[in-house]
Amino acid sequence: LSVGVIIPAAGQGKRMGMGERKQFLQFHGQPVIIHTLALFEGLPEVDEIVVVTQEEEIARTQKMIEEACIHKVTCVVSGGKERQESVYLGLKKIRTDWVMVHDAVRPFVSREAISRLLKVARMHGAAILAVPVKDTVKMVDDAGVVEQTPDRKRLWAVQTPQAFRRDILLSAHEQFLKWDAMATDDSMLVEEMGIDVRVVEGEYTNIKLTTPDDLFMAEAIYQMRSKKK
Ligand code: CTP
Ligand code: MG
Repeated sequence: LSVGVIIPAAGQGKRMGMGERKQFLQFHGQPVIIHTLALFEGLPEVDEIVVVTQEEEIARTQKMIEEACIHKVTCVVSGGKERQESVYLGLKKIRTDWVMVHDAVRPFVSREAISRLLKVARMHGAAILAVPVKDTVKMVDDAGVVEQTPDRKRLWAVQTPQAFRRDILLSAHEQFLKWDAMATDDSMLVEEMGIDVRVVEGEYTNIKLTTPDDLFMAEAIYQMRSKKK
């Protein structure tokens, strides 16, 4: 059965606050998004990639993809205001039986983690990568007062990729559109449909480049990897 990847890359990168959008920042000779795409290009399990970016970035993105000789990208489409809309616009283009959604700005996910994720998704229909939360987490009210402390043993910090049977993810997105509701990740849409989503343990190094300090983390992860090789 075929597997496709949707790469949402239509964000503004407000929290990173650089002149350039973070998915296009140069990192060791390549834009961040190319590091991410190269990873899926090299995975034999992946048949097709759809990239979602801003209208005005489409031409530049296509050029980067060509120059990096990435052949699995079948289209670069224009995204929406929210990540959820961007994913949906990509989802409408993809034709594979299975779909993974992966942030353009998570260039460090490992092949091993993706393989584990796909195996579980294929067994159960929906699976996500996550890591156990290291810090104690508090629920806090608007006045800044702690309401409760959830049991840390049950808290997981969720990452991407998230993998689903395409028809499951598509109907979840369409249901949310009807309800005019928003979710912060794709799993939440599927959860709300009453479908079980399996958690697969990922790696702490699969960071999302979000704020400027993440660029230092990225450098450290890169150095660690090149020493191992
Ligand atoms: N994304 C997208 N479409 C949007 C918003 C986000 O495709 N309307 C993508 C981003 O490009 C990124 C991923 O979703 O690859 C994760 O989002 P996030 O880290 O929040 O990126 P930004 O939205 O760009 O950053 P910020 O929220 O700080 O502006
Ligand atoms: Mg955002």
